[in-house]
Amino acid sequence: MSLELKILGGCIIASSFYSCSRLNDKEKSTAINFPNKSSELAELMRDLVENTEEVKLQISKNEKPGFFIEFDKLHTAVPTDLAVRDDGHFTSFANNYIATVNELINTTGDKEEKYNKMIQSCIICHQQICPGPIKRIKKLRIK
Ligand code: HEC
Repeated sequence: MSLELKILGGCIIASSFYSCSRLNDKEKSTAINFPNKSSELAELMRDLVENTEEVKLQISKNEKPGFFIEFDKLHTAVPTDLAVRDDGHFTSFANNYIATVNELINTTGDKEEKYNKMIQSCIICHQQICPGPIKRIKKLRIK
């Protein structure tokens, strides 16, 4: 199997794990059918989603966005497929994401615009490395 296919496969499996953690019965049975332990990076991504949903809410209430994620872990957390870090882009995508988070935290201007830019940087990495969860990520945008 080619490297790309393996990564894609890992991500599809990863995104089905993801949907497992989200409630409905069909998805719960998926969790039972795929009892594999999820990777450290996948768990970090789930926290990231949770944190991002919180931040979205904070922005809608005009509160200061609060991040609890340890962003450095993006660089060290072990992925399902170790090869995801090997294409030479992962580090710059991760740094780009972290930069957009800081822009959002520090802006005195339009928080919604910075927030959507941050979501776009999740998508940029996912487009290249792990397309499975993109649909889910797009839902995080502020309309
Ligand atoms: C630097 C690249 C990169 C960035 C930036 C990134 N991701 Fe990911 N994401 C990944 C990789 C790689 C995986 C697959 C992890 C694994 O299976 O080990 C993943 C997995 C996921 C998953 C599936 C998790 C699971 O349960 O398997 C979701 C959902 C997700 N990311 C959402 C996001 C969101 C939301 C953001 C931005 C807030 C984001 N990602 C930013 C690379 C990235």
